[in-house]
Amino acid sequence: MRIALFDSGIGGLTVLSHARRVLPSEEFLFFADRDHVPYGTKSVSAVRGYVREAFRFLVERQKADAVVVACNTATSVAVEEMRQLYDVPIIGMEPAVKKALAQDPDRRVLVTATPITVNGEKLRRLLSDYDTKGLVDLLALPGLVEFAESREFSSARVEEYLWNTLSPYELSKYSAIVLGCTHFNYFKDTMRRLLPKTMGFVDGNEGTVEELARRTGLTTAAAGTEMAPCEFFESGRPMAGQEALARIESYLARAARMEQIV
Ligand code: DGL
Repeated sequence: MRIALFDSGIGGLTVLSHARRVLPSEEFLFFADRDHVPYGTKSVSAVRGYVREAFRFLVERQKADAVVVACNTATSVAVEEMRQLYDVPIIGMEPAVKKALAQDPDRRVLVTATPITVNGEKLRRLLSDYDTKGLVDLLALPGLVEFAESREFSSARVEEYLWNTLSPYELSKYSAIVLGCTHFNYFKDTMRRLLPKTMGFVDGNEGTVEELARRTGLTTAAAGTEMAPCEFFESGRPMAGQEALARIESYLARAARMEQIV
């Protein structure tokens, strides 16, 4: 099966890294919308336009059999429209609020995402369904998307940004931080140094891949060393050349390391 993963940028590689290991016999396409990243600070109508273009490319030209929108921001504003336009299974991503509250229904949860996701109607609905005790706080961290795109993960600037945004919260009261943007997974080691040990990470990466398998009738294997092949595209252009591919590999290697941090 030809499975496309789509993100505004390199965040979705954190989902791809897992998907290729547990579905090693499939064929993957990865689309990073490098011309338009970041999405989270742009207008909703601009993002909808970018997502339409990406789907045209992936489904109409590349004949993807299924699309994973490995981007919470694009899911928030455009997934419903794509489901109306295309017949292929489309798997979106939403901040894993339900999972975090199920793990500890009494302590607070800090949901981090992009400004579009944080202010979106989709997240508001999710909270009104699951956050019945009012335990969730929302925090937009758009700076992390820019840092991730420039491969800056643990510099003093990143630490300072994280510290300035996280320290106003009484973190000892929280059971979890939800990574509601796929770009944020690259910062788990840096965040681990700043957050109390009592606070765990929750993201939707594994759940999204399970949902992909369920919707396509595929069976996932235990993650091993075998990896499915993948073709990479930047805003519809095939990514070629040593330098571009080495850049992707370095993100994938970091994504795999971050997956081990809980
Ligand atoms: N990685 C994306 C997400 O999961 C969006 C980052 C951005 O382009 O602002 O929301």
